[in-house]
Parts: sequence; C-alpha cells; structure tokens
Amino acid sequence: MSAHYAVIGNPIAHSRSPQIHALFAKQTGADIVYEAILAPPDGFTPAVAAFIAGGGLGMNVTVPFKEQAFRLARRHSPRAQGAAAVNTLAFADNEIFGDNTDGAGLVRDLVFNLGFPLQGMRVLIIGAGGAARGVILPLLEENPRALVIANRTQEKANQLAAEFSSPAEKVSGCGFSDLAGQDFDLVINATSAGLSGASLTLPQSVFETAGLAYDMVYGRPTPFLRQAREDGAKQVADGLGMLVEQAAESFLLWRGQRPDTAPVLAELRRELARP
Ligand code: ATR
Repeated sequence: MSAHYAVIGNPIAHSRSPQIHALFAKQTGADIVYEAILAPPDGFTPAVAAFIAGGGLGMNVTVPFKEQAFRLARRHSPRAQGAAAVNTLAFADNEIFGDNTDGAGLVRDLVFNLGFPLQGMRVLIIGAGGAARGVILPLLEENPRALVIANRTQEKANQLAAEFSSPAEKVSGCGFSDLAGQDFDLVINATSAGLSGASLTLPQSVFETAGLAYDMVYGRPTPFLRQAREDGAKQVADGLGMLVEQAAESFLLWRGQRPDTAPVLAELRRELARP
C-alpha cells in the first residue's frame, strides 16, 4: 500500500507541494500518495485527525495553520520551538511530532544553490511576522556577524529580536527609517508585501553593498526585487528554491532520504517561465 502524505492549508489550490513531492517520489522510487487538503478556517484539527485515522503518515502545513499545528504537536524539534510554528507533521506510534523546515530550506537555498555562505555576514531581515520568525534560528546557526530585523511596525521587530538575543548581541530590531546609512551583505524580504504588489520604503543604502537580495515570495517580480536591482544588489533571487528545499527537508524527515533538489527546482523554474 502507498504511504500517504498531504499538504493542508486555506487556500490550497495554488500549492506546488503535491507536484514537488511527486517528483521527489519518482526520483527516489518511493511509493507515495501526496494530496492537497483544503481545511475550513476553524476545521484544522478535525481534518488532521481524519487524515491520521485514514493511515496518513505526515503532513505539510501552510497558511493559516502553522501556529495551530505547533499547538497540536505533542513533541517538537528545536527549530519548530524557535519558530513557534510547524510546517511539517509526522505521525507515528500514536504521537504527533512537529518540525519546521522553512528556515533550513532557506539556508540550503542560500548556501548550496546560490553559493552564498552566511558566516561573518551582515544580514537584514525585513518583516517580523511568522515568515521571519520561522527562519531566524537556522540563520543564526550559520554564524552571521549580525542579524538585523526591520519591520514597518518597529515594536514587533524589537519584540522578535529580544526573543532571539544571544550573548554576543548579534540580533537587533529596528524600523525602516533606522536603516538609512546602514549596509548589509544579504537582505531577505520576509514580509507579505510582495503578494499584494506593495512597495517597501527601504533606504537605498540597504542594497548598495548587498551581494544578494532574496524575496521569500516566488514566481513574480516583486517591488522589493526591482528596488534591490535598481539600488545596486549584485544578485537577486526569489523564494522558489526555498520552497523546493523546505519540501526536501520534510521528505527527508518522513522518508530518511534526501532527494536531489536541482532537477526539481529546474523543472518548476521552467514551468514558471512559460507564458
Ligand atoms: P507572515 O506570517 O506571512 O509573516 P504576518 O504575520 O501577517 O504574515 O506578517 C506580515 C509581515 O509583512 C509583517 O512584518 C508586516 O508588517 P507589520 O508588522 O508592520 O504589519 C509586513 N508587511 C505586510 N505588508 C507590508 C507593507 N505593505 N509594507 C511593509 N510591511 C508589510
């Protein structure tokens, strides 16, 4: 019998996860079924329970259920604890285990796919919502020189930075206007602004010395990436690689085997480029 997995969210029709996991399964010879489940906003827990009752082994969790998934899990990985959110559930021995592979996916995309090691770098994260929180611990594990969190609502950036403050005081929070005159090696957009096409009001200095500007949104030319290019960032990247890499980390957790992401990323990139 095929092993059963799914992604759950609302909305879910746009999700590329079923396609990505089908490509991983084909490549590794795994006999799996991976479906997309649309849960009503107040129906996450019953939907997970029904999936488990039907023999499901694991789930990816996307917007808006990652915090609920964290609360549902009885055991968590350290990176899920750091994120206070779960994007990967594994069901075994009557236990719900919660992990978060988003940050590891981002780091793998930055370091392996884009060739951008983080050690000693000055890193700026724009945004202080769930997407930012989810990647901070894995970024810090790469030992950057500094990690600055800047948010439109400054107070949220300060709060988030305080949660991750290390003895070396590497992590700090600020508002956008505080960024004037500061420069960074890597700028990551973790806001949802790109989804609505909204621009961020970031000072030019932010990108002037940036080796890489990275938008977690994928598949569209966001105002953030346009500004980064115009203001001097040497390289820009969208979040498609992060999407594929976080999926590979989930597959590894469930199946004990890491798929080769390069051909899968290339396939998705080709599809996105098609008119
Ligand atoms: P997510 O879980 O995707 O991070 P969220 O928790 O709603 O979503 O957070 C959205 C983030 O995008 C926040 O940092 C938000 O800034 P505020 O805290 O000031 O609201 C940021 N954001 C969304 N639209 C934005 C815009 N047009 N300009 C600047 N920041 C924006």
